Amino acid sequence: MIAAVGQQPDWGDVALLDHVTSTLQTMPPLVTRAECDRLGQAVARVAQGGGFLLQGGDCAERFCESGATEVRAKLAQLYGLAEVIHSATGGVVVPLGRLAGQYGKPRSAPYERIADGTVVPSYRGDAVNSPATDRRARHPDPTRLLRAHECAERVLRVVRDSWAGRSPLERAYVSHEALLLDYERPLVRGDYAASAHSVWIGDRTRQPDGQHVAFARSVANTIGVKIGPVISPAQAVRLSRLLNPDGADGRLFFIVRLGSTRVRSLLPEMVEEVSRRGRPVVWLCDPMHGNTMRIGAGPKTRLMEAILDEIVAFVRIMRAHRRHPAGLHLEMTPEDVTECTTTPKPFRPPPELPHYRTACDPRLNAAQAAEVVERFVALL
Ligand code: PEP
Ligand code: CO
Repeated sequence: MIAAVGQQPDWGDVALLDHVTSTLQTMPPLVTRAECDRLGQAVARVAQGGGFLLQGGDCAERFCESGATEVRAKLAQLYGLAEVIHSATGGVVVPLGRLAGQYGKPRSAPYERIADGTVVPSYRGDAVNSPATDRRARHPDPTRLLRAHECAERVLRVVRDSWAGRSPLERAYVSHEALLLDYERPLVRGDYAASAHSVWIGDRTRQPDGQHVAFARSVANTIGVKIGPVISPAQAVRLSRLLNPDGADGRLFFIVRLGSTRVRSLLPEMVEEVSRRGRPVVWLCDPMHGNTMRIGAGPKTRLMEAILDEIVAFVRIMRAHRRHPAGLHLEMTPEDVTECTTTPKPFRPPPELPHYRTACDPRLNAAQAAEVVERFVALL
């Protein structure tokens, strides 16, 4: 029986898809096995309590933003925030970008209604279709997988340039959600995913018997798994055993995104059970994805209060269970955007979000990301 697979585009043109996947198979690896191993060693240090992981970047990377200037700005933000954690704690801090491959997006709804009232297929990331709001632009195009590879290559060149003068423990690595199996599978080289140093499995595709988990099990890279509110502690235990059967310290991290209203009721039992019956995991807090909401008829936003509150709860719960609160997973940008906001005061109109540019979820701007990281270190 073929295991279930969710969130894959209906590419339509099978012959063209075949051509694309065989082309990807012939491409040189985007990352090397040695780089992936060095990330694994750095994450192992974090797991042993000797440091932190800071994973962050755009919700959806855009092809048109893979130029050196944009990528240098994103790296500067990531390194800068990692430095804030390092100077406060003295420990190793591993910067891990949502970068060089974050081109596929899982969606809750297959269609969306746009401003003029028409219904179009949802945007699924630049590797699949275009965010432009007409039906034709939303049609999945397999050749976009080749452009994804090309853009990832360009971004990685800038990432490697940034390594000059830094030790392997200080370098930024790249990661993305391993969502599009028609991209990930042809890029496996030997026993590792050559699409990124680390990939994660999203909250919508982490079924233990699903094809995304099977893919992650088959590769040697450090793997992340999103942990949302519908997962049971028993399922989390099972995932830790499936994905880290040897109990290696640098192999697996759980990215907890329960939301500020549920983290206190759901996380303690999860941590307890995984610690008692599962395999070793590194625990990260994603205070973004459980806190997405709308104010009135406005676009999706996230309230700073909820984001900060989830981090506070996460650190306290980790401490209470004698686990290491190993870091943060953030959606952020160095651009001056207004996508996340603060709670509107009673009797005031909802806040305006004049610089709203994300192709998918609302990101922290530079000042908001700094505030979030400062709050995190203040708790340590
Ligand atoms: C994301 O990280 O952009 C995302 C879709 O997350 P999740 O799988 O946690 O919903
Ligand atoms: Co997102």
